[in-house]
Amino acid sequence: MNGPLGEITTVAGRNSFDVAAVRRDFPILSILVHGKPLVFLDNGASAQKPEAVLQAMDTMYRTSYANVHRGIYALSDAATGMYEAARETVRRFLGAADASEIVFTSGGTDSLNLVARCWGQSFLKPGDEVLVCESEHHSNIVPWQLAAAATGAVVRPIPVTDAGVFDFDAFTAMLSPKVKAVAVAHMSNVLGTIMPIKRIAAAAHAAGAIVVADGCQGAVHQTVDVQDLDVDFYAITGHKIYGPTGIGALYGKRALLDALPPYKGGGDMIETVSFERSTWAEPPARFEAGTPMIVEAIGLAAAIDYIEGLGLARIHAHEAEVLAHATDLLGRIPGVRIVGTAPDKGGVLSFVAEGAHPADIATLLDQRGIAVRAGHHCAQPLMVRMGVSATTRASFALYNTLAEAEALASGVERALAMLR
Ligand code: ALA
Repeated sequence: MNGPLGEITTVAGRNSFDVAAVRRDFPILSILVHGKPLVFLDNGASAQKPEAVLQAMDTMYRTSYANVHRGIYALSDAATGMYEAARETVRRFLGAADASEIVFTSGGTDSLNLVARCWGQSFLKPGDEVLVCESEHHSNIVPWQLAAAATGAVVRPIPVTDAGVFDFDAFTAMLSPKVKAVAVAHMSNVLGTIMPIKRIAAAAHAAGAIVVADGCQGAVHQTVDVQDLDVDFYAITGHKIYGPTGIGALYGKRALLDALPPYKGGGDMIETVSFERSTWAEPPARFEAGTPMIVEAIGLAAAIDYIEGLGLARIHAHEAEVLAHATDLLGRIPGVRIVGTAPDKGGVLSFVAEGAHPADIATLLDQRGIAVRAGHHCAQPLMVRMGVSATTRASFALYNTLAEAEALASGVERALAMLR
């Protein structure tokens, strides 16, 4: 590697993952930004899409499109079959027992709002507590605050350590019969910490609380088995996992879904409607009012098939290698502090640097074609906890390379030289 980090030698990938071939599957990776090859390191915000997803959606619109669950004609039957097959793909991906436990939503935020509204507003009472980790994304805090405001319940933060590790002792000390729900991300979008969801679920269940996991990052960087984790609800979004925007899913244990009221009213979610009384369809239809995100569901299934075809374990090993290399290089730059140093991390690297604002670093990186996110990452309470107002965040995907980790480090070093 040439440049200010001259003592750093370029490393070769150690696992068998053919990242060069994978990159050819993503058309956008060949564009130039400010005349430079794109180095896309904002995958935590949204990941790029492979040809397999683009083609699945295009083909659906061109050859098989109609509304679902409604038509008594061949095209609608075919579209319904594809939509329900997509649900089965999500079931398999998450390890759920039955496809009826998979509700399609418009994304992770929608999934979490569904739980907080339908479960929270039905089952929380004044004085009940919802424990939410202090590193949560706003979408796993604010819906609970809305539910608490509607019911008289209280939202309490579970601390993380200085390294960004879930403070399990503090958590168990907070458990009591008042605690009715525990809401934690499987993986922090800022710290990268993998949270011990299985242990959390066991402790929460022993105390009589349900567990809601935000898997928007976790499902991208971890192999998920909701039955093994024993979570009650698990939320995912499509666009971070190489699928389209506008689609996500909520896993819920069937007995819990059965007990919930509808989320929205409209077509497809009812059994009967009269002006005297309407009754509701069984899950998952009860939670899918109106024409659903049909083509987006097909795109999400294509994305899942694509990553499963590459091999989740191989993807995760490759990402771990890129993360380790970037962490090593950034950690050597004087004045750079990595925010989130848990031993168990997925592909997210947040940092601050003395004498430079995170947004200025991101702007200068952009001039070199390197896309990162700077700001509070929709996790303002966590910023306060970590003693920062913002961070610069690189978040890695299966198509990122060791050379891109080097470009990031070199770009940060040059940016700091200009800003200080
Ligand atoms: N939740 C997304 C992120 O972390 C948008 O950037």
